[in-house]
Amino acid sequence: MSLERILDRIDSDLDPAIARLMELLRIPSISTDRDYKAECQRAADWLVADLASLGVEAEARPTPGHPMVVGHVGEGAPHVLFYGHYDVQPVDPLNLWSREPFDPAIEETADGKVIRGRGSSDDKGQLMTFVEACRAWKAETGEWPCKITFFFEGEEESGSPSLVPFLKENADEFSVPDLALICDTGLFDRDTPAITTMLRGLLGEEVIVTGPKMDLHSGMYGGAAMNPIRALARVIAALHDETGRITVPGFYDGVPEITDEMRAQWDALGFDADAFLGEVGLSQPAGEQGRSALEMVWSRPTCEVNGITGGYTGNGFKTVLPSEARAKISFRLVGTQDPLQIRESFRKMVREMLPEDCDVRFEDHGASPASVMSTADPAFEAAREALSDEWPNDAAFIGSGGSIPIAGYFKSILGLDSLLIGFGREDDLIHSPNEKYDVRSFHKGIRSWARVLDALASVKS
Ligand code: BES
Ligand code: ZN
Repeated sequence: MSLERILDRIDSDLDPAIARLMELLRIPSISTDRDYKAECQRAADWLVADLASLGVEAEARPTPGHPMVVGHVGEGAPHVLFYGHYDVQPVDPLNLWSREPFDPAIEETADGKVIRGRGSSDDKGQLMTFVEACRAWKAETGEWPCKITFFFEGEEESGSPSLVPFLKENADEFSVPDLALICDTGLFDRDTPAITTMLRGLLGEEVIVTGPKMDLHSGMYGGAAMNPIRALARVIAALHDETGRITVPGFYDGVPEITDEMRAQWDALGFDADAFLGEVGLSQPAGEQGRSALEMVWSRPTCEVNGITGGYTGNGFKTVLPSEARAKISFRLVGTQDPLQIRESFRKMVREMLPEDCDVRFEDHGASPASVMSTADPAFEAAREALSDEWPNDAAFIGSGGSIPIAGYFKSILGLDSLLIGFGREDDLIHSPNEKYDVRSFHKGIRSWARVLDALASVKS
């Protein structure tokens, strides 16, 4: 049977596949930092060349930001659109890395071999699991499993500013596939593969509060002059009540309770909240009272302050009364919460709370709604069985605390459902120093895609 031959080829070609991933990891494609623009182009060009080596005629299509890599190949049903992102998060703080972030290497750990380097898990390693599965398939059979559109983005980590216009402009080309396959999520645990069926939305707001025209001496003016840090801190403190609920008016409109069926599925996963928090040095779930830690992360909305600046933050001490204070605040959204309405309500609340002598302006850092996948499509069950064949445990349908705005746009702009399968682990340190991807995730990830493609081809044909 050809699936067995394809899986054998994946096993024997693992070393060259890792070597290819290492080449991609060496390119510092940090999308959010404009100094790395040329590197993002280089990563896109690398992918175009790699797809060409597979026989896929792809191109790096320019956008006002970083290029989109697009290639179509194969024929027959189903037509799948595979999505991954080649951009990565910034690497700082650099001093906390055990090696150079863009000089990847295989390291031995107590839990097996890992590929260490920025982007190894989020998302270059994941993206390449799909490419390598296709390579093995083509090499072994001379054919493609089905019709495939490859679609790699270079701005996912910076809020995908070019994505919506690009999808709208190319809707004729992108709305043809039957299903999107997205590889940017994780396993449930080391031995349990997962299909993510819920992603949270994300609203990013930067609040800039100004008080006096210039920094002042805090003795000469302190007491009489309004301090914008104090005003901003008061607003931030008021964003949650004593039960952990968010106080922005209308915030909970569209927040559903999870269904009994989903609750039963999640309960059956045996999630260990103590271990989850224990791993990061904590012990008390900090969200809404009366909710489990799993609910807090998978199905409840949040408001988090991601950073605060203002006043003197250098060495030593300075008795200054600052002119400006800033906070970066993000909201994770669920259900049908409307990010634009929440943005408006949040801004109104902030304006109303600030004292007369403070001015405020807001910077918009993106707004995308939550996505919930309908698992009724037989592709979900087929993929679940295929994943269960590869891993020690059966695959689970899970939620996710993270956000992948494109899943919502595929649905709202193109009418396309997404199957979210990924092989990342909770301890992969994505977005943090020392990011890694287990060699096992990479290897079994490639094998998983071969199985999933085989299963999808038999569902649709
Ligand atoms: N791969 C992540 C999303 C993710 C994280 C899914 C963990 C499942 C588990 C993705 O690259 C990401 O980091 N997304 C950003 C959103 C973006 C708009 C900056 C996020 O969730 O913060
Ligand atoms: Zn990420």
